Amino acid sequence: MKCFQYFKDKKFRLREGRSAPELKKQINSEDYSSGADRVIKSSCSATSPRGIPELYEEKAHNLRVFTFSELRQATTDFNRLLKIGEGGFGNVYKGSIKPADGKGDPIFVAIKKLNRDGLQGHKQWLAEVQFLGVVEHQNLVKLIGYCAADGARGIQRLLVYEFMPNRTLEHHLFNKAFPPLPWKTRLQITLGAAEGLAYLHQGLEVQVIYRDFKSSNVLLDENFNPKLSDFGLAREGPLADRTHVSTAVVGTYGYAAPDYVETGHLTAKSDVWSFGVVLYEILTGRRSLERNRPKAEQKLLDWVQQYPADSKKFGLIMDPRLENEYSINAARKIARLADSCLSRSAKDRPKMSEVVENLKQIMQVSDEGNPSEKSFELCEGDLDVSETKADQYGPSESWKRRMAHLAKLGEHVEGASRRRLMIMQRAKVL
Ligand SMILES: Nc1ncnc2c1ncn2[C@@H]1O[C@H](COP(=O)(O)OP(=O)(O)OP(=O)(O)O)[C@@H](O)[C@H]1O
Ligand SMILES: [Mg+2]
Repeated sequence: MKCFQYFKDKKFRLREGRSAPELKKQINSEDYSSGADRVIKSSCSATSPRGIPELYEEKAHNLRVFTFSELRQATTDFNRLLKIGEGGFGNVYKGSIKPADGKGDPIFVAIKKLNRDGLQGHKQWLAEVQFLGVVEHQNLVKLIGYCAADGARGIQRLLVYEFMPNRTLEHHLFNKAFPPLPWKTRLQITLGAAEGLAYLHQGLEVQVIYRDFKSSNVLLDENFNPKLSDFGLAREGPLADRTHVSTAVVGTYGYAAPDYVETGHLTAKSDVWSFGVVLYEILTGRRSLERNRPKAEQKLLDWVQQYPADSKKFGLIMDPRLENEYSINAARKIARLADSCLSRSAKDRPKMSEVVENLKQIMQVSDEGNPSEKSFELCEGDLDVSETKADQYGPSESWKRRMAHLAKLGEHVEGASRRRLMIMQRAKVL
């Protein structure tokens, strides 16, 4: 999906001929104000003069600096067979590089190569290097290093990330070539992504506003753990005496908070809105904007409003690819959480740390609720099996087993499914 407007401000100025080792100096001297009145945003709450440049200086030595020819070699000259994606920044290739100490097996990496068309891309590249050079969290993609080469053939800007083998949340939710994501995995991804955002908002000395939260920026590792990628639009949060940062409006249609789009006033709550949008994408399996649907269904947020979380018809919005294998209670709670993230007034939206807590509770409900909610189908199947195996156990054993099973299931069953269960008990078992 296209971003709608890139940086207009002059925060990052391209200096022709700068080479990679000077990156640090460039960031320090030009890209940020002194930050003298900055306040620590983390829970340890003391004042700190440090902003991204200072933090970057402290941590950037962790990043590897690659030459262009090293990365050309890593991707067999950017072979199109190794191309794994393409975004607004440029093409992404799978490559393999030597470990930092030169020993051991090669490591797979994802290499993003900027389209060679100048300033906007360079700004994003620089933002990505400095933010990802500072942050460190299991739900944020790891930047291994970068390449900045300015030569006779123009400027080359590349980023080298840890390789994420399971593509993005977007692929798994919307691309039918991938098997549907099970409910539990959806919850796990939701929680991990929330934890990544909470860390950015509240877990660092400086607050980071991500500004481009969307399903295509949630990468998935071999165990489907989510990691946020693409920090090209990230921004430091407001200083202590400010409520917001005034910026040019950037982001992606369908995900950006309306208050931010209208005013250009950016706060962490803009990310919370985008998170709410993705929650509904996860529930429904629909994109935030789908032009090929009937008019009333094109905008996901407008459409889901007709199926409130507390209404009987709520279940109709759920992703049919889940095939009813989910907890309706948990789904309702997630929809309510999404609604609070999508409050018109930014102040009414929860903090990401609150979202995380809420999601943990919901996951408990889901774990407890799942067996019972699937129980009708399970029960029918189980009972048939019990009938056929009844002789093995003898009539009384079989009866006891069934009753124990039904009683266990009944503990969690509510409303209609409890009634259905009772009917089954009368008709088939007793
Ligand atoms: N670290 C990574 N490991 C594996 N694949 C990746 C990695 N980073 C990106 N990709 C792949 O490259 C694709 C393009 O990513 P990119 O971030 O450039 O574009 P996008 O998110 O689709 O669009 P946008 O430019 O709006 O962010 C992703 O969809 C993903 O499949
Ligand atoms: Mg992206």
